[in-house]
Order: sequence, then structure tokens, then C-alpha cells
Amino acid sequence: MASFSVFVAVAITILGLLIQGSSHPQLSPDFYSDTCPDLLPIIQHQVQLAVAEERRMGASLLRLFFHDCFVNGCDASVLLDDTPTFIGEKNAVPNKNSIRGFEAIDAIKAAVEEACPGVVSCADILTITARDSVVELGGPYWDVKLGRRDARTASQAAANTSIPPPTGSLDQLITSFHAQGLSVQDMVALSGAHTIGLARCTNFRNRTYHEKNINGLFAREKQESCPRTAGHGDNNLAPLDLQTPTAFDNYYYKNLLVYKGLLHSDQQLFNGGSTDSIVHAYAENPDAFYSDFIAAMIKMGDNKPLTGTDGEIRMECRKVNY
Ligand code: HEM
Ligand SMILES: *[C@@H]1O[C@H](CO)[C@@H](O)[C@H](O)[C@H]1NC(C)=O
Ligand SMILES: *[C@@H]1O[C@H](CO)[C@@H](O)[C@H](O)[C@H]1NC(C)=O
Repeated sequence: MASFSVFVAVAITILGLLIQGSSHPQLSPDFYSDTCPDLLPIIQHQVQLAVAEERRMGASLLRLFFHDCFVNGCDASVLLDDTPTFIGEKNAVPNKNSIRGFEAIDAIKAAVEEACPGVVSCADILTITARDSVVELGGPYWDVKLGRRDARTASQAAANTSIPPPTGSLDQLITSFHAQGLSVQDMVALSGAHTIGLARCTNFRNRTYHEKNINGLFAREKQESCPRTAGHGDNNLAPLDLQTPTAFDNYYYKNLLVYKGLLHSDQQLFNGGSTDSIVHAYAENPDAFYSDFIAAMIKMGDNKPLTGTDGEIRMECRKVNY
């Protein structure tokens, strides 16, 4: 009888492992602890250097991770350069003249390669770098799961359609995140990334001149740096969080409560709809925002990773290995 219970227990454990192995990627925080023990301090130091040189870089590096993960999973596809025979994602609509931080990633990859050649994927570097960027700008720390591998392909078409546009309605934003296995709450929490970083006039012009759910003084102030006529001052920049643009905090949500969201999509989260209560909660309680943001970042990072022998460990993040 006792041996039968042991048998059942062992069988259940094995079954559990099999199910886990087949339905979940094998990502784990200690994936490189034997093969690259100093990986985390190496990357942290590089992120500190990059952010010390330019605080905005923390925002740019966080965004890179988002734009990578939303296009066929977190596989570093966003880092691949266009070549005469290869169309990458850098010139897709949401990325062109907008995403940045590639030189910083090159420097991080070079430092990692020097310590542990051919071991660490660019996809994992993006994951760690996003976390360290949040920490460097005063946000919360969390353990990231590792073991992703790098894609040998990219998809400009998927980048065009999978990354949500700033013109999106609440329903469209929800649908776009849902397509990545992310909930409404995940969507609102991840949007809190707009507590740091800058946007171009072309992405907030219409809101500041034509929308009604915007604070009047705020709108006029933004108009000063963003001429009404399309094509004029398109690349002029404004902070996504007017209060603390280089600090990772919950001011993004406080701004929404007073209709000072910069992008149309930002203000959609607090516009009399189903997400108003979540915005209220995060505006009042930074710890609630942080814990939901962390959970959602981990969930986004788990999205369809290449693992095992799929993909490759790229030698240079900008190009596939021959
Ligand atoms: C909810 C849907 C989202 C939309 C529609 C959106 C859209 C945008 C747009 C239009 C910009 C400005 C780009 C430019 O003007 O060049 C921007 C910047 C930024 N986004 Fe988002 N975003 C969304 C969600 C996210 C998420 C989930 C993250 C990260 C977790 C994120 C992180 C950032 C950061 C940090 C910046 C500033 C980047 C910099 O200064 O270089 N965004 N976003
Ligand atoms: C992405 O969108 C741009 C602008 O509409 C377009 O020129 C480009 O061909 C699109 N890429 C793909 C692969 O559909
Ligand atoms: C600009 O804003 C107005 C007012 O909200 C809206 O009707 C229109 O569709 C917007 N245009 C674009 C291109 O987003």
C-alpha cells in the first residue's frame, strides 16, 4: 500500500514535469549561473553607464523589449538590421525614426561576449536590460527568467500590425494586448512604462489640437512645441510624463486623472471606460502598480520564446550568424 502511494506520487510528479516541459518554455532565473556567472553585474554596469550618459536611454531600452516581444515573441528580432536581401523590423511603422538604443545594446552585447563568448542570447540581454533600466530610473526590481534564444528571421509585416498605434481606442488596445496573451489589467499596468521617455509631435499633434478630453492648459503648452501643420516640427519631443519624465513612478496615472495624458492611447485608459478604476488604483497606490507591472513584464517576457535548440545565440545582435 505504501509503495503504491509512492508509485502514484512519483507518477504524478513525472506527469507534471512532462506537462510543464511541453506547454511552458524552460526559462529560469539561473539559466546562465554556470555558463556566465557575472552576466547580471556586467549588464547592470553597462546600463548604469548608458543611463548616466543619457537618462532617456533607460526609457528607450525598456521600449525595445516591448517592441521585440510583441512581434512573434521576445526573440531579438527587433535588433536585426535591414540589408539588401533582408527586411527587418526597424523601419516598420511603429519603429521608424522612433525606436532607439541599438548602440547601447551593441555595447552591452560586446561586454557580455568578452566575458562569456557565444553563450548569452540578445533576447535575454534585452530582457535583463529592460529590468535594469527600470531599476536605474528608480523603479522596482524583479528577477527575470532567462533561456531565450535569438530568431534568425524578423517580420516587418507583424511589426506593422502587432504593435498598437497611439491612435488606438480602448477596445483596440485591449484586443492588441489580448493577442499576446495579456489581460486588460496587464495592458494598463504595462502602459505605466509611459512614466518615462519622450514622444514625437507627430504622435500627439492631433490630440493637442482636436481632442476634448485634454486639460486645456496642458494642450496649449504642448502646442507650443508642436506646430498645427502636418510636416512641421514632426520630430519635436515632449515627455510622456510631464511631472517626472526620467523617474519610474506612478505619475503617469496621476496625469491621466487630470486629463494630461500625452497620447490619445494614454488618455483612453481614463476616459469613462472600464479601465478607469485600475488607473485610479495605480494613481493612489504605487506598490499596486509596481507589483502588477512586474507580473505583466514577466508574462510579456514569457511570450513564445525560442528555447532549447530553436533559433541561435547571435554573435552580433544586429545580424544573424551567417
Ligand atoms: C498601450 C499601448 C502603447 C502604445 C499605443 C504606445 C505608443 C508609444 C508611442 C507612440 C511612443 C512615442 C514614440 C515616438 O513618438 O517616437 C511611445 C514611447 C514609449 N513607449 Fe509606448 N506604447 C504603448 C505601450 C508601451 C509599453 C507596454 C511599453 C513598455 C513596457 C512602452 C514603453 C514606451 C517607452 C519607455 C517610451 C519612450 C521611449 C523613448 O523615450 O525612447 N510603451 N509609446
Ligand atoms: C509596413 O507598413 C509600411 C507603411 O504602410 C509599408 O510601406 C510596408 O510595406 C509595410 N511592410 C510590410 C511588410 O507589410
Ligand atoms: C483627431 O481627433 C479628432 C477629434 O477627437 C478625431 O475625430 C480624429 O479622428 C482624429 N484624427 C486622427 C488622424 O487620429
